[in-house]
Amino acid sequence: MSGKPLLVTCGLPYTNGPCHIGHLRTYVPADFYVRYMRRSGEEVVFVCGSDNHGTPIVISAEREGSTPRELSERYHEHFYETFRRMEVIFDRFGMTDDAMNRDTTRSIVERLVDNGYVYSKTISQSYCPECERFLPDRYVEGVCPHCGAVARGDECDQGCGQHLEPGEIKDAICKICGGKAEYREQEHYFFKLSAFRDFLLDYLPTLGGTATARNYALGWVKELLHDWCITRTMEWGVPFPGSDDLVVYVWVDAPIGYISFTKEWAESAGADWKDYWCGDDTRVAHFIGGDIIYHHCIFWPALLKGAGYGLPSAVVASGMVTIEGKKFSKSRGYVVWTNDDYLDQGLPADYLRYYLLSYTNHTKELDFSWKVYAERVNKEIVGTLGNFLYRTMYFAEKEFAGVPDRAPQPAILEEIERSLAGIDAAMRDYDFKNAVDSMMALASFGNAYIQNNAPWKLIKEDRAAAQQVIADCLQIVKALVLVFQPLMPDAMQRAWTMLGYGDDIAAHPIAEATAPVGARALPKPSPLFAKIEEAQVNDLEKVLNKRVDAANAAAAKKTSTVSIEEFGKLEIRVARVVSAEPIKGSKKLYKLVVDLGGEKRQVVSGIAQFYSPGELVGKDVAMIVNLAPATIFGVESRGMILAAGDEASLLVPLRPVRPGTPVR
Ligand code: 2FM
Ligand code: ZN
Repeated sequence: MSGKPLLVTCGLPYTNGPCHIGHLRTYVPADFYVRYMRRSGEEVVFVCGSDNHGTPIVISAEREGSTPRELSERYHEHFYETFRRMEVIFDRFGMTDDAMNRDTTRSIVERLVDNGYVYSKTISQSYCPECERFLPDRYVEGVCPHCGAVARGDECDQGCGQHLEPGEIKDAICKICGGKAEYREQEHYFFKLSAFRDFLLDYLPTLGGTATARNYALGWVKELLHDWCITRTMEWGVPFPGSDDLVVYVWVDAPIGYISFTKEWAESAGADWKDYWCGDDTRVAHFIGGDIIYHHCIFWPALLKGAGYGLPSAVVASGMVTIEGKKFSKSRGYVVWTNDDYLDQGLPADYLRYYLLSYTNHTKELDFSWKVYAERVNKEIVGTLGNFLYRTMYFAEKEFAGVPDRAPQPAILEEIERSLAGIDAAMRDYDFKNAVDSMMALASFGNAYIQNNAPWKLIKEDRAAAQQVIADCLQIVKALVLVFQPLMPDAMQRAWTMLGYGDDIAAHPIAEATAPVGARALPKPSPLFAKIEEAQVNDLEKVLNKRVDAANAAAAKKTSTVSIEEFGKLEIRVARVVSAEPIKGSKKLYKLVVDLGGEKRQVVSGIAQFYSPGELVGKDVAMIVNLAPATIFGVESRGMILAAGDEASLLVPLRPVRPGTPVR
């Protein structure tokens, strides 16, 4: 343990929609980690809050006829309550729109200005003449200047994924009235991110957390760093100091929320927030989704450095969530809502916590499937852990009316110690799956031990020997209950009570696992876990399928028609892939060279996750050949390969045709 206390934070949820399983993939592991570290003797403060600013919240509020503050307060309460139901308990859950964060943001921005890291520049920005307003971020949609895909004003979400600066988007359309936007000049303020390149090259290799976050960020820094426009023309947000019509960009005041919420907690706890945020040896671990690594590993440390604060010591980035094998998508119905679909169905938070932490490594993609969920709950939680805990306590109570007065055998204590050491190493490495697997392995060990020693037989010949077996098993039970508590707090508190302890298990360090259980009377135990029945799985699947069908039907209705003349403008041809190679810095993209008959063409295609180069070379595919050229990740692309579905299934001719043949 180092000298300073540990601060753990979670990425802040936006207050414009309910909590879903994608959110939980970050919050549940963070809560697990915090509980584990506390029970291992660390002093830990756990803060989070809701992210109230930015255009999506204003747009949502306008749509429902309320104000951004009202909408934010409603969803703020929703998240707080949902997290509580999921047993994710923060020391402070604040709001970025509250006075503390407004003040802290203002003072940090002023410091950045004073330290020479902010400059003003006149830029051309999307403006809607119809609505008579500038169109920041998601107020516009248009075409990505880098790859030509349809993009939102601040991010090429459907194409190359790049962050878009104000005014960069092409062919902008106003999201409010649907009219064509113009570009108008306006003075904005920029943060000199480019000045922090050397600092980041030194800092990032020292950053703890998941290697994915560190390496991804280093990849970006080695390429190039653009300065960030940190002001927006809107009313909702933290006013930019000294300006009447600009607010600070939401990605400035949101992470500053981490500091503000620490201050709010410190005020009520009588602590000093500076212990967490000032000096060279701060210990701050940010748990975030893998889609906001850039913001947390590049932008945020640079901002902190520029304003003279301490730096994050770890960024722990979780992988994405898919639903029944399909890309997570609220609009297409592939979503599991935490309350409606899960908790309100009477399903235990503990089961979902277990699934989220044990399904796969924290940085990998996690698929949520109701069938797999039921299988794992029934086999692992009920069949292995629950079975061992219950059968041991049941036998002890029935035959000996409690815990026999016998010390556990040294070999059992050694096994527990070995297991705890493995779990601890995995937890400190943010390797949660490994930690949970090791925990379950100890339960399997217990099951095998009781099965092989069969105390129910032994008791008939040698009562003392049977007592020894049960004393050993009860010691394993105690260890399991203590070590599983951070993962399944509700069930393990019940198990703790059944083990004859009347107090709060959270007050006991995990290290007590090897302290003797001690002779005592035990109450009659009851099973800790119930199975998920097949009929319930079918019902849960039906809810999801119905939602997907409804989304498909709505999408089909929305599809507008194009005239044959419009369609004729697209030139689609058969292209033969000549070569395919990865593009440095991108996991998704390949640089392809294709043969179009008389001509060779270079094209960038986002199919690298689905095909190896060898699978592509020699294949004939369909390609739009008259798309305006674009530069993607520094590589020129002249065309677009057509593919269908989430896994980019390529459209190939059924019968052989010559390269260059037009598709009609
Ligand atoms: O991406 C998001 O959902 C943001 N609301 C996360 C903000 S995290 C932070 F930096 F505040
Ligand atoms: Zn793009």
